[in-house]
Amino acid sequence: MDTQIKEEVKIRKAAEADSKDISSLIIATLQQSNSSDYCEDEIARLCAAHSCSDITDMIATKELLVAEKNERIAGCIALVFAEQEPGTALVTTVFVHPGFQGQGIGKLLMSFAEEVTRGRNIRTLKLYSSITAHSFYIKLGYKDISGSIPALTDDDIFAMSKSIV
Ligand SMILES: CC(C)(COP(=O)(O)OP(=O)(O)OC[C@H]1O[C@@H](n2cnc3c(N)ncnc32)[C@H](O)[C@@H]1OP(=O)(O)O)[C@@H](O)C(=O)NCCC(=O)NCCS
Repeated sequence: MDTQIKEEVKIRKAAEADSKDISSLIIATLQQSNSSDYCEDEIARLCAAHSCSDITDMIATKELLVAEKNERIAGCIALVFAEQEPGTALVTTVFVHPGFQGQGIGKLLMSFAEEVTRGRNIRTLKLYSSITAHSFYIKLGYKDISGSIPALTDDDIFAMSKSIV
């Protein structure tokens, strides 16, 4: 299955012209996949934080990648290289549209992120997991950490990391 999905899915850098599609993908995923784990207000807040203009800003400040299948954007992932923490990169904005979930696209995006960051001397990947995706990240070898990311105080997300050396 892994080989087949690699052939069917193309991962590329997001362009500004993709902003609307990426925003729609994230909003649909939040509403359909995350809504069983978070209250309505939180989903609405997260949807509002991923508008088309927020995505355009993200493209300018982070490395946002998209997975394309059948000429449609099926998923996305963003990488942030923290200057204050050399050797560590933060993985954010991991979403696979509900219509494309369960086909290996999330796993492919995560392994692509590992490959790209390893090539840039990154030794540790960190992320904040949703409740929804926690078991997915555990399956990929991420472990819960606590206290190492000071911004994290919310019980509804998990700080996780993985050594990619
Ligand atoms: C979590 C998410 C990115 C997974 O994407 P996906 O394309 O469906 O995942 P894959 O098909 O690549 O699954 C890879 C493996 O993880 C497993 N898996 C996927 N989602 C899972 C979940 N929520 N819980 C447990 N295991 C999961 C699959 O069964 C598969 O296992 P296998 O390799 O043994 O077959 C996707 O479900 C999603 O976008 N969720 C909502 C948004 C979200 O919460 N994103 C994370 C923000 S931090």
